[in-house]
Amino acid sequence: MKNISKTYPGVKALENVSLELKTGEVHCLVGENGAGKSTLMKVLSGAISKDSGQILIDDIEVQINSPYDSQKLGIGMIYQDFRLVPELSAAENIVLGNEPVLNRFSFINKSKANQIAANALVQLGETIDLDNPVKKLSVAQRQMVEIAKAISKKIKILVMDEPTASLTKTETEKLFAVIKKLKNDGVGIIYISHRLEEIFLIADRITILRDGKLINTCPAAEADRNKLIKWMVGRELENEYPRIESKPGREVLRVQNLNSDRLKKINFSLSTGEVLGLAGLVGAGRSDLANIIFGADKKSSGKIFLEGEEVNFKDPRDAIDNGIALLTEDRNLYGLIMQMSIRENISISNLISLLKGPFIQYKQENKVANEYLDKLKIKAPSIETKVESLSGGNRQKVVLARWLFTNAKVIIFDEPTVGIDVGVKFEIYNLINRLVEEGIGVIVISSDMPELIGISHRIIVMSNGEISGELTGDKIQQENIMELAVSNL
Ligand SMILES: Nc1ncnc2c1ncn2[C@@H]1O[C@H](COP(=O)(O)OP(=O)(O)OP(=O)(O)O)[C@@H](O)[C@H]1O
Ligand SMILES: [Mg+2]
Repeated sequence: MKNISKTYPGVKALENVSLELKTGEVHCLVGENGAGKSTLMKVLSGAISKDSGQILIDDIEVQINSPYDSQKLGIGMIYQDFRLVPELSAAENIVLGNEPVLNRFSFINKSKANQIAANALVQLGETIDLDNPVKKLSVAQRQMVEIAKAISKKIKILVMDEPTASLTKTETEKLFAVIKKLKNDGVGIIYISHRLEEIFLIADRITILRDGKLINTCPAAEADRNKLIKWMVGRELENEYPRIESKPGREVLRVQNLNSDRLKKINFSLSTGEVLGLAGLVGAGRSDLANIIFGADKKSSGKIFLEGEEVNFKDPRDAIDNGIALLTEDRNLYGLIMQMSIRENISISNLISLLKGPFIQYKQENKVANEYLDKLKIKAPSIETKVESLSGGNRQKVVLARWLFTNAKVIIFDEPTVGIDVGVKFEIYNLINRLVEEGIGVIVISSDMPELIGISHRIIVMSNGEISGELTGDKIQQENIMELAVSNL
């Protein structure tokens, strides 16, 4: 790609950006939220048109005006936002747009489709019920279907835009094995991720974008974490995890002898003034626990107390009204209204506090939205910008802002920094600290171990539906967490 430029109303998304990809190379593309990574890849896949610049494949200039053009040229693309059709089965999604599977009446040849889909999934080492509609699959499974879809065709170039954002460690390893195989077959891979550890595991070369401009392209061996952060953010970050002292105050939440079909005898309490981390392997029951507290799932026995009073939420709405917020890892579920503005998406969660009699106080609404735009560094021309035109990470920040504006007493963050760049991660940790200092109970679920250790004052480890231990002070260490996490398997 040579000197690619792209301007959106009010935003120069790309300015003369060039990117070169070799066969059998993993080329990582990094940069802050809104730097232009997805835009550059959408130009390559024909999802959007460029204003200027050239695309050459094997030294020959090509015209890519639609996703169909790029497919014909052997370019596979895994988009950051899911593009699956929820109502169709996994198999149907995998072969969608793959003509050989369609007969002349355009009906999908089901057995052939299933065969292609099964082949792709075998490569990934996944077993997914092929007949199930995709909407019934977990987020991670849906991501695996996306990946299977991309590798089920004959490809020369594969673009992955944050493929691991919703994958677990094991699934990520499976994906890396596939990347290795594709690499050996000579496929060139462009890989976008905010997980810097991953980059150093797989990258041959790295390209850094900032504010739509090319900052640098270098061999991975010549970069390190600090250099990369400096190039991305434009300044050095002294400390990735801002810490505050723990000052446990009064109890805000207590869970007593809680059981469900997946959980056994859960007992813990949460105080103001502390960040409580929830650790455990995937499937240990952390999200199940969060969902029960949030009224999204049912417990079979046990009690939950909020500020000393027993509560029994019938649904999430009830929980929200009573001061519990859950930032789910599934961004789509309690997600955004794409055609509405940032302002509307933030204020919708808490319109009541904006009312004076029957009227919305627009001044107040603007003030709140502008505050969050500023605090979370949401990259947009104004609070009136529609959410659909934001970059992936910036959409995630709007979800965050919405929850922060609910006047919650307890906030549960389930993977709060997935898809968010290092600079803003730091801001989010600061924000979590500020919430704690304001007397809000905070629980953080995270698979990012350094993050969990970096920000928690106390860590409860779950293993196979039970709490297998609690760590505080200098006992909070990766080895101790891992030991407890597997203790019940
Ligand atoms: N359809 C659109 N309309 C208007 N502006 C857009 C549109 N799509 C992207 N932008 C803007 O272009 C810029 C680059 O966005 P892009 O999605 O390429 O960022 P990114 O590097 O992929 O970020 P992230 O890490 O958050 O996914 C951002 O400022 C974004 O708001
Ligand atoms: Mg993006």
